[in-house]
Amino acid sequence: MVAAMTSFLRVSAILTVLSGAALAQPAGYNYDESKVGTYTLPDPLVMQNGTRVRDAASWEKLRRPEILELFATQVYGRTPKGQVRPRFEVTSSEKNALGGTATRKQITVHFTQKPDGPKMDILLYVPSSARKPVPVFVGLNFTGNHTVNADPGIKLADVWVKEKKQKGDEKSRGSAASRYQIEKIIARGYAVASIYYGDIEPDFKGGLPYGVRPLFYRAGQTAPAADEWGALGAWAWGLSRAVDYFATDKDIDAKHVALIGHSRLGKAALWAGAQDKRFAIVISNDSGEGGAALSRRNFGETIERLNTSFPHWFCANYRKYNGHPEQMPVDQHMLLALIAPRPLYVASAEEDVWADPRGEFLSAVAAGPVFELLGKRGLGISEMPAVGRPVAGRDIGYHIRTGKHDVTAYDWEQYLSFADLHFGRKQ
Ligand code: GCU
Repeated sequence: MVAAMTSFLRVSAILTVLSGAALAQPAGYNYDESKVGTYTLPDPLVMQNGTRVRDAASWEKLRRPEILELFATQVYGRTPKGQVRPRFEVTSSEKNALGGTATRKQITVHFTQKPDGPKMDILLYVPSSARKPVPVFVGLNFTGNHTVNADPGIKLADVWVKEKKQKGDEKSRGSAASRYQIEKIIARGYAVASIYYGDIEPDFKGGLPYGVRPLFYRAGQTAPAADEWGALGAWAWGLSRAVDYFATDKDIDAKHVALIGHSRLGKAALWAGAQDKRFAIVISNDSGEGGAALSRRNFGETIERLNTSFPHWFCANYRKYNGHPEQMPVDQHMLLALIAPRPLYVASAEEDVWADPRGEFLSAVAAGPVFELLGKRGLGISEMPAVGRPVAGRDIGYHIRTGKHDVTAYDWEQYLSFADLHFGRKQ
């Protein structure tokens, strides 16, 4: 309780300092812990029909598919199966990248036979010194592959600036490098891959026709049905296609793929990890509402706000829960539980109150019983740890760091150590 009070006071103090124009989060939402109210979370280990799940086999056979189906039909929308067979084209492979520390490969994943159809570029660095095949970190990026590192050999991506596709420019090379920490990852002996999310579907309300979703339309279909995927589902699908590629690359250990996503791309990463068990570790960085954070906690962003500001992200059924998170058959701790028994890391940032750090933490706590049923170790605590004191050494990791909504070197330090631990690598 003391710990909880302390961090609550810290959050309030930050809000006081940031109040007014400098506040990084929209006004009119609740940032007051005393106004969160009470809520009851659905139990991940009780079936919809009330039966309690008592063993791993019943979780795997009955409850896990039930929860997956609920997230598919009520939240992110169903991902269509099959139909598209991606073709991989390795467009370049350069051994002396990053000062000779890595091989840089660029791979175009063609989703259709049509030359003007959607395709995505994977930027992949493989450490020169590592014994092959190597484990890999993969994630989407917001601003184009050429922005994740200043490496002049990265192909300039075509990026969507609002609703227009433009050629990326030299000026923006490496502009987002601090979020991707490529050199640090390589130095720790991991490969790292990044993909521009706009290649899979551009992120605006009218972006649907430019992305992969129409490739799956049934005859006569012109829009996804209410229980079919939104853009988050498309981005998650694209991540799985990167794993398809890894399985063909002898340098990559496709059994040790760590998936990371920040913010909306953290939401997409969790959904990808829930659906595709080939992701061996899943990391949510500041994913917030519709990601790791509990929706029933009235704090920061809400379902209604998500569906209003970003109507293309989720499935249309999700709108039923605008203003009524308590009516959802799931909450986000159950999405986290779908990662089990694979290792899961949830991270928050102290000033990122819009994403509800405490809601992200409590969600990770509430996923714990499923990990434990499967013989793994949940967080093992119920009070939020102090800022800058990661919970390490378990199958669920968590930290809250100082600072704002971002991915930093500090975050990466924790993720690399978490991967070392779970991939059995020396630290
Ligand atoms: C907005 C949105 C969040 C999202 C974030 C991001 O703030 O409300 O839900 O996570 O953008 O992706 O940066």
